Amino acid sequence: MNGIAISMRGINKRFGKKIIANKDVDLDIYHGEILSLLGENGSGKTTLMNMLSGVYYPDSGEILADGKPVTITSPKDAYDLGIGMIHQHFKLIDIFTALENILIGLPKDNTEKKCRQEVGDICQRYGFDMDLDKKVYDMTVSEKETLEIVKTLYRGAKILILDEPTAVLTPQEITRLFTILRNMRDDGKAIVIITHKLNEVMEISDRITVLRKGENIGTVMKTETDEQKLTEMMVGEKITLDIARDFVENKAKRLEVKHLTVENSDGKKVVDDVTFDLYSGEILGIAGISGSGQKELLEAIMGLQKCDPGSSVIYNSTAHGVHELVGLSTRQIIQYGLHLAFVPEDRLGMGLVGNMGMTDNVMLKRYRKGKGPFLHRRQPEATAMKIKDELEVVTPALDYPVRRLSGGNVQKILVGREINNKPTVLMTAYAVRGLDINTSYAIYNLLNEQKKKGVAVIYVGEDLDVLLALCDRIMVLCSGRMNGMLDGRTAEKEEVGYLMTHLKEEA
Ligand SMILES: Nc1ncnc2c1ncn2[C@@H]1O[C@H](COP(=O)(O)OP(=O)(O)OP(=O)(O)O)[C@@H](O)[C@H]1O
Ligand SMILES: [Mg+2]
Repeated sequence: MNGIAISMRGINKRFGKKIIANKDVDLDIYHGEILSLLGENGSGKTTLMNMLSGVYYPDSGEILADGKPVTITSPKDAYDLGIGMIHQHFKLIDIFTALENILIGLPKDNTEKKCRQEVGDICQRYGFDMDLDKKVYDMTVSEKETLEIVKTLYRGAKILILDEPTAVLTPQEITRLFTILRNMRDDGKAIVIITHKLNEVMEISDRITVLRKGENIGTVMKTETDEQKLTEMMVGEKITLDIARDFVENKAKRLEVKHLTVENSDGKKVVDDVTFDLYSGEILGIAGISGSGQKELLEAIMGLQKCDPGSSVIYNSTAHGVHELVGLSTRQIIQYGLHLAFVPEDRLGMGLVGNMGMTDNVMLKRYRKGKGPFLHRRQPEATAMKIKDELEVVTPALDYPVRRLSGGNVQKILVGREINNKPTVLMTAYAVRGLDINTSYAIYNLLNEQKKKGVAVIYVGEDLDVLLALCDRIMVLCSGRMNGMLDGRTAEKEEVGYLMTHLKEEA
């Protein structure tokens, strides 16, 4: 085997007091190898690599480059060591050409002529195809990714880290990328690739390192493992959680989702022909690697996504009758009692207005029920007070700007508001992201209460142990497709993990 390019020793990284992103991680990256980093969402893959690329600095631990201790405090330090990272969100300037993007920030001796010459060499050597005069806004995602990689190579990268590079590519583009990665490996470069797709891991890697909850679980040779073993390493033993799960009798069908299909702006099917029923008195879990279509699925039901022809969502309730929801506006859908509490990365952007206090935020969704422009503040205030008491929201005052509250409190307000509107269907996505254990349990209890009241609940979650403990049924999404529907009481963790990362062949 070749020499070690980078060694990480005892690396620890926390965010705030509670979130341990990386714990005592040791990792070696060799010259001339392709190493895959595998792990569930939130297992610390990106954070670990960001400490090599100079985005984050470890709380403790040591990094060695070619055997010598180094300090990486900025992307420039990383570049000087020959480390380049291709992030999931590209950092290109739209109105510039490829050439301009490559040259930006470089010393003047990097003339246009020199750049064209060297980029030509790089392209020929590894098999890239690139038009240096094309503007970024005219490029496909694949072309942008190519540009990012070429830019990194032009800066002399010997160690390339790619964070989920295949997530945005078509199968043909992935094949092309893998050919290039192999060429670079054979040329002696060290490649680290993060991907959730097990078939890709088995195809491209020489070695595979698995992270789980911030820790390095182990490194295996590709030739000595298989998808099943990797899944077991990834998900670990099943942990029994103390979450209540009652059985509700006499369920009624609330939603009948048929052939639901949503395309993104690139024409890629992000929700692909999904069909399922949703019942009152159940919690339907949705499992999947993030970005498998969960968000778009819920948004499509809520009228926030344009669905392909043939998609249908029949809503059936005693109070509101039977309706086709596809084609209705979000406002109409909310009036039928469907509510969506979605926790995006930017919790405040979507659900709440940061500068407003609790009362105003609670009122945001209620005022349409009011009789006119004269709003009665007393009722929203009482509602806000009720949510505050029941969910134990910690805020100095009801009119204190919610953006100054902690994530957990913001989340309680968001979910509390939706529940307060007495939904018949309550959809939550990442409801407990960033919350501590106690607060998370408070949210599970809330959802259980809703279920017992006969609400049909959808819970999109990341933690498999929670999905298995909380949900009556679990739907597994993979690449926008429904890859399985399991009984939450009997499903095995490995089975869910496998379905998340391995698309079943079409029958
Ligand atoms: N800037 C940040 N501030 C606070 N917490 C963070 C930050 N970045 C990451 N985290 C948290 O650290 C943990 C590890 O996150 P990280 O992004 O490294 O995971 P990941 O394995 O890359 O996940 P994914 O597969 O979803 O990309 C998570 O709990 C995440 O919420
Ligand atoms: Mg990541």
